Amino acid sequence: MQASISSATPEDVPGLAELAALTFPLACPPEVTPEDSAAFVAANLSAARFTGFLADESCKVLVARQDGRLLGYCLLVLAPPSDPEVLESLESGRPSAELSKFYLHPDVHGSGLAGQLIEAAAGAAESVGARSLWLGVNNRNVRAQSFYRKSGFQTSGRRSFQVGGHTFRDLIMVRRLGTGPQ
Ligand SMILES: CC(C)(COP(=O)(O)OP(=O)(O)OC[C@H]1O[C@@H](n2cnc3c(N)ncnc32)[C@H](O)[C@@H]1OP(=O)(O)O)[C@@H](O)C(=O)NCCC(=O)NCCS
Repeated sequence: MQASISSATPEDVPGLAELAALTFPLACPPEVTPEDSAAFVAANLSAARFTGFLADESCKVLVARQDGRLLGYCLLVLAPPSDPEVLESLESGRPSAELSKFYLHPDVHGSGLAGQLIEAAAGAAESVGARSLWLGVNNRNVRAQSFYRKSGFQTSGRRSFQVGGHTFRDLIMVRRLGTGPQ
């Protein structure tokens, strides 16, 4: 299988919105209903939102393809976070870029494509001067946590994250840049 990682273009937007709608529920714990999930996707992961991310200089969307098929994406946010809990977790690693979204199609879970995408994200963050990469992950998303740990991230705090009527205490995980996976 031939894999490629590149910056997203406007032509990718419909495929990104479709992939985002398919993969967002996979990161949620069971109490998030299909209705909660659909409302979150409509508000945050629509084609219009992806068009906005592409136009925003503080954002970078990377896409992962295998044999030309769009199978993964991530969103880097380069603007500094405002959440005091996040800021506290990043004490010594600032400036830090946020890995705000990181999603692979289930067809390629366990294939190694996620590892290629995360290395590309880390490289992109480092190239604009970030000293660390941070993310929030649901407490019960153990597969993602395991993936992030083997990719060099360590838990450094918690933050609140709202989906529908649920407020989750996500883990904040941070990877120092410049040293690669530890
Ligand atoms: C998170 C994600 C990007 C990781 O990519 P992936 O290809 O599945 O990751 P990998 O298979 O390389 O690594 C996952 C690890 O978790 C392990 N794992 C799988 N299920 C697990 C479980 N229930 N408990 C603990 N570990 C688990 C796997 O064995 C693997 O570890 P190993 O390589 O040492 O065997 C992908 O699963 C995904 O897109 N998930 C849905 C969306 C999501 O949750 N995104 C993250 C939002 S923060």
